[in-house]
Amino acid sequence: MMNHIDAINVFLSRLESNFCVTLPDARTIVEAFHREMSAGLAGKESSLQMIPSFVGRPCGAEKGRYLALDLGGTNIRVLAVELDGNRNAAIRAVSRFVIEQDKMCATGEELFDYIADCIHLFFKEHGVDVQRTFHLSFTFSFPVAQSSLTSGRLIAWTKKFTACNVEGQDVVALLTAALARRRMEFIRVAALANDTVGTLVAGSYFDPSCDMGVILGTGTNACYPERSDRILKCPEPGAPSEMIINMEWGGFSQLKTNIYDRLLDEASPNPGRQRLEKMVSGMYLGELARLIIVDMMTKGLLFCGVSPDVFSGQYLLHTEQLSGAAAGFDFFADFGLTDVSETDSRTIREISRIISARSARIAAAAIAAVVTWMDAKVERFHTIAIDGALFEKYPGYPDCMIEILHDLLGEGARRIRLAPVRDGSGIGSAIIGAVALHNHLERDVNN
Ligand code: GLC
Repeated sequence: MMNHIDAINVFLSRLESNFCVTLPDARTIVEAFHREMSAGLAGKESSLQMIPSFVGRPCGAEKGRYLALDLGGTNIRVLAVELDGNRNAAIRAVSRFVIEQDKMCATGEELFDYIADCIHLFFKEHGVDVQRTFHLSFTFSFPVAQSSLTSGRLIAWTKKFTACNVEGQDVVALLTAALARRRMEFIRVAALANDTVGTLVAGSYFDPSCDMGVILGTGTNACYPERSDRILKCPEPGAPSEMIINMEWGGFSQLKTNIYDRLLDEASPNPGRQRLEKMVSGMYLGELARLIIVDMMTKGLLFCGVSPDVFSGQYLLHTEQLSGAAAGFDFFADFGLTDVSETDSRTIREISRIISARSARIAAAAIAAVVTWMDAKVERFHTIAIDGALFEKYPGYPDCMIEILHDLLGEGARRIRLAPVRDGSGIGSAIIGAVALHNHLERDVNN
């Protein structure tokens, strides 16, 4: 008869193999990424949308003061950013607002009115004089089919957003209408960008070797500069030589899933979609852990004598708590659990490690895929600008990424630098605004 500790160890080692991304698995991910990237760029059926952003990398000489609005996964930020024209950017003013769940699920009009109110509050808080026109860059962290630098339709909500009457609509038009309802016509939207694009643009403004932007936060996604002649679905005569492509890699679907992935997906607001995101990003890792914990409790392997109902609420366990457990913090009190045994604590730490290791290995394999797409033998130096709490705060996460990059790319991995870029999406958005205005002025002069 197996004793209690043995039964726990057997469960955990099965869990580890169900969540494991072996080196051959990682190689399969790289190959599948290349196939899907190629199909997405050609406008064929693909789980990678490969969306043209209508902007390239900055030259570093962009200058001036710009306003940026950053609508991310959990908050809205309004920022005034100053660019010195010499690869330096500083945030001169910033206001941050939490987006409550009821706003994410409201009507589109209510959501955009709230965004306009946040901008209004920013002006009030920082005593900004509203006598002149302001050019605003809008970072909208969702899949948008852009038709120009200042227009694009939301393809589908991701993360926790479900606000109605927004999918299929031009989000710049929705924001402009909300600004008009709030009598703020003095604000003009100068550019629309995804947060990954903002991150890459900020990263390459500071460092010209930067050629990829990655978000590892509430959601996950990446972008890179693509040669215009390879963007087959969008042939633009006379287009600049490169354009940044928002991959929407959270949608990548060719991954091995396990029972917990399937349970999470089926109960999610978007079943069958965002498969990579559901295995990698901060919005979902806590939920995966919760499903495992409930399973272990039901089998009598964890918190003996406590009802699994303690963990019955969907998304009740947050990734920050899981990451806290990995860092040795007591996360049990949050759930009313006292007198937790050492074995229970160790089990939770193991679950945390297993889930985050898979996330980091998939993210790194995806980075390896993009780098080798741009530079097959990794002969050049690549800086990857990364924003998001998973990368920054989850214990051991970057090391886990670096390890698999070495296994996949050998010596080439030494030429890849994973660089955290704080506030990248906001600062990058301001730089995109500067590029947009410059292009606009140039057009006016030439016409
Ligand atoms: C989701 C969005 C994507 C965004 C990412 C990170 O995957 O669809 O557009 O870049 O989250 O915020």
